[in-house]
Amino acid sequence: MRTPIIAGNWKLFKKCCDAQDFVAKLIPLVQKTSDVEIVIAPVFTVLSTVKQAIAGSNIKLSAQDCFWEEEGAFTGEISPGMLVDAGCSHVIIGHSERRQYFGETDETVNRKIKAAIAAGLTVLFCIGETLAERETDKTFEVLRTQVENGLAGLARDDLAKVVIAYEPVWAIGTGKTATDEQAQVAHAFIRKVVGELFTVQLAEAIRILYGGSVKPENVRGLMNQPDIDGALVGGASLKADSFGAIVNYKA
Ligand code: 13P
Repeated sequence: MRTPIIAGNWKLFKKCCDAQDFVAKLIPLVQKTSDVEIVIAPVFTVLSTVKQAIAGSNIKLSAQDCFWEEEGAFTGEISPGMLVDAGCSHVIIGHSERRQYFGETDETVNRKIKAAIAAGLTVLFCIGETLAERETDKTFEVLRTQVENGLAGLARDDLAKVVIAYEPVWAIGTGKTATDEQAQVAHAFIRKVVGELFTVQLAEAIRILYGGSVKPENVRGLMNQPDIDGALVGGASLKADSFGAIVNYKA
């Protein structure tokens, strides 16, 4: 059985007070939720505030990115070990916004994934095709390349620390969700590729999240799909009510 994960990616939103407020509202909404892993990913500057706010709760802390070196003369970067030190158990790597705006490539994503795993973090590894790629029937090719390159050189044991997030770029922040069927087809394909690269058993065990305009209204249909093991939520994770409703999708 794959334990579902509902993760909130706050992107470039929320300073300290807003983050504290959010957590204070979320805790009572999810404190009885036991069979879902709950993760929130704030900006770096509020990680320690959120760490204190979630202490003793069932909410886990993620960062939105990290560098691959542990320390050194790399101004402005943050290392995986520093994220662990700040209380993170998870880190998002390879988000399409980082690929699109900050020059992230499959190669840098791969280096970051390896470094994050070495530091003991669980990686939320993002992949997904653009609209142009989907419309020219390149979806499978793009997903295969991203999975192969992102996970290149990982040992079988490392895979336990990887969660894949399928986020079709055309569905992010657009209000356009992939249909349940479109998402399921992509997830099944990704699982097949993981099986080819590693083992069928590991492919069965890996969790694959869907991301792209997930809301309380559409989460249940997505979660009913056999290969969808959770959601990576952007906009709807910014309000405790809507994020709580997504976490409690089974209720
Ligand atoms: P939205 O839920 O706002 O579409 O964002 C999805 C996302 O990018 C999560 O990482």
